[in-house]
Amino acid sequence: MASEYPIRPISPGEYPAFAAVHSHAFNSAPHGQDRRERALALMEFERSLAAFDGTTLVGKAGAYSLRLCVPGAVTPVAGVTMVGVLPSHRRRGILSALMRRQLHDIHDRGEAVAVLWASEAGIYERYGYGPASWHAAFSVNRHEVRLRAHVPGDAGLRLRIAEPGASRDDLARVYDTVLDGQPGLFKRDEAWWNRVLAERDPAPTSTPLRCVIAEDDDGPRGYALFTAQEAWDEDSFLPAAKMAVQEVMTADPSATAAIWRDLLSRDLIEQVRADLRPVDDPLIHLLADPRRLRARVSDGLWARVVDVGAAAGQRHYACPVEVVLDVVDDVCPWNSGRWRLAAGPDGSGRASAPGLAPPGGYRAVCERTAAPADLTLPAHALGAVYLGGTRLGPLRQAGIVIEHRPGAVAALSAAMAWDPAPWCPVIF
Ligand SMILES: CC(C)(COP(=O)(O)OP(=O)(O)OC[C@H]1O[C@@H](n2cnc3c(N)ncnc32)[C@H](O)[C@@H]1OP(=O)(O)O)[C@@H](O)C(=O)NCCC(=O)NCCS
Repeated sequence: MASEYPIRPISPGEYPAFAAVHSHAFNSAPHGQDRRERALALMEFERSLAAFDGTTLVGKAGAYSLRLCVPGAVTPVAGVTMVGVLPSHRRRGILSALMRRQLHDIHDRGEAVAVLWASEAGIYERYGYGPASWHAAFSVNRHEVRLRAHVPGDAGLRLRIAEPGASRDDLARVYDTVLDGQPGLFKRDEAWWNRVLAERDPAPTSTPLRCVIAEDDDGPRGYALFTAQEAWDEDSFLPAAKMAVQEVMTADPSATAAIWRDLLSRDLIEQVRADLRPVDDPLIHLLADPRRLRARVSDGLWARVVDVGAAAGQRHYACPVEVVLDVVDDVCPWNSGRWRLAAGPDGSGRASAPGLAPPGGYRAVCERTAAPADLTLPAHALGAVYLGGTRLGPLRQAGIVIEHRPGAVAALSAAMAWDPAPWCPVIF
């Protein structure tokens, strides 16, 4: 059993063994010097966990202390990462032991939510994580697309080609403006920006990371980071270059249109790929023929509610609601049982007067109750709906959420859904 493999944080001196497990588990080449330095700059050794077989490090997990935008607020969460078990030691319960220990540690630190990217979508539900954000990958043939006839425009807006590293302040200014209203984004400090700007198309013939900024006299309003790859069709001698868009971040509609107009009209480019885009990307609505995006959708951030009462109070709600949840949580048993969640102007679940919801939504109070449950749901379902991008209705239809009071699922689903959909453009 896993207790044969004691678990503890590692010291910096043990990092090579930690990294070696990663390399074996992910079938990846060992990191070079640059990448290792970037990883170490983000590493929080006190949050690392390693399982040992005697003196051999055989399993590992880590966590970043992130400040994540959730619906209506920015809040501390654990960004779980670096999970792997040495192939020789798989299926002995080592991951399960690491996950349980880590969730207890996260709870002890007072973080109410954990998030992660899953290498495979069948792994984390058993630990109470659910798919909470989704992302789209677009693959566009440049000659097939054009923007619709009338898109937002601003004569004061201009484009500037910039060097990404030297433009970090401009990029951060745009990013920080977007962050506050975009669930799924997390705050980036210097180490995170170093990592984002170092990521690029792995094709050896691709350009360095390029940057274009949309700005006016008051400063930057949007940017794109991308690489391109020169290519020519040998039979026809026609241009066949490819562009890989790494990140587009824009603060207003005119900047969004200006950046995409540029990216989708570059000379000599045949194909534009944009991965890790939001599922509600405004680009879909900017194109005259959006099917030409050839979109593929997949799961993004998985979320785990580590403390039901605190997590429910940290995010905001789109409309007033009052429901009693019966939470089933074997991994974090302190969450199990009934909770009364009430969102509204005074946390009562009642709307004060007809009209618009306040900017940033309604706050909620979530407390223990002995009242009968309106719905029963497992921890992973609560995690899935936490960021407002996965709906409760389909979870009920799939038999995962059980409704006891008719209308309770629809009411809670309407309150928890969020506009914009959660989106995380960085895999960590
Ligand atoms: C995924 C991984 C960490 C699992 O580690 P492990 O120690 O073998 O896992 P455990 O023995 O604790 O397995 C716990 C449960 O998860 C299941 N499981 C493990 N890996 C799984 C996978 N890839 N897909 C689906 N289920 C998986 C096990 O079957 C077991 O199920 P059970 O509780 O019903 O018996 C390990 O296989 C690995 O390192 N894989 C490659 C790297 C990777 O994908 N890491 C995750 C990064 S997000």
